[in-house]
Amino acid sequence: MLEQRAAVAEDWPGERHRHPKRSSVTYPTRVHLASWLEDEAARAAADFGRYRVLDIGCGKKPYYPYFAANADEYVGLDIDTENPLADLYGQVEDLPVADDSFDVVLCTQVLEHAGDPDRAVSELYRVTAPGGRVLASTHGVQVYHPAPVDHWRWTHSGLELLFLRNGAWSSVTVRPAGGTATCLAAMTGIYLDLLFRRAHLTPLAKGLVWTLNTTGAGLDRRVPSLRAMKPGSIFLNYHVVAEKPA
Ligand SMILES: C[S@@+](CC[C@H](N)C(=O)[O-])C[C@H]1O[C@@H](n2cnc3c(N)ncnc32)[C@H](O)[C@@H]1O
Repeated sequence: MLEQRAAVAEDWPGERHRHPKRSSVTYPTRVHLASWLEDEAARAAADFGRYRVLDIGCGKKPYYPYFAANADEYVGLDIDTENPLADLYGQVEDLPVADDSFDVVLCTQVLEHAGDPDRAVSELYRVTAPGGRVLASTHGVQVYHPAPVDHWRWTHSGLELLFLRNGAWSSVTVRPAGGTATCLAAMTGIYLDLLFRRAHLTPLAKGLVWTLNTTGAGLDRRVPSLRAMKPGSIFLNYHVVAEKPA
């Protein structure tokens, strides 16, 4: 059974989410998201042993391979009724799922698309099993990207507030993915990429984006204040861990 799951995992869709190219404009968001979720899957295995996962706004279920070996159940839900990988169709604001039913609830890059984020977080709380956790990610800064709509961006404190006022969590932790230099490099990269591709200079665009992504990450590594959540900081994405009391 485990071998079968591992075999599935190797060919699983979403390889570019798990191993993004550094020359891609989505690299700064995805590289941090992938390593965070890989670590969280290992932590969930250590804490829960076997577990049930609900992946809300699952898209291609790109992170299924991280959780597969220890998941008794891995249910993907999406609003997009044409998504062939979804097991359930519905909205994060009104989940067609019983109370307290999943140990790990994933909601990655979805909250910015929700019509009612307060209701969405209440639903995340409702479906999480006692002692279980929500792993959510969403943008601090990003270009408009409807899927099918795009409504919200957050600061770390706004995101923390959103969770705290919509559930009796035992803990809520919000961490930025990368630092201010990563964010500025990513935004610059998006527009240079567009410009150079329009001028039919795609290889040059890739080189520039690679250089910006490398420089941004390098600066953030060397200068701790660029990673601090303080006045003047700006972050591309946030990772949230919200735990429900046992
Ligand atoms: C940017 S993609 C993220 C996909 C995947 N979670 C990931 O991290 O790669 C957003 C996904 O959320 C779905 N979605 C958008 N609004 C939603 C909503 N209100 N409820 C549930 N899913 C939604 C979209 O159909 C899409 O699959």
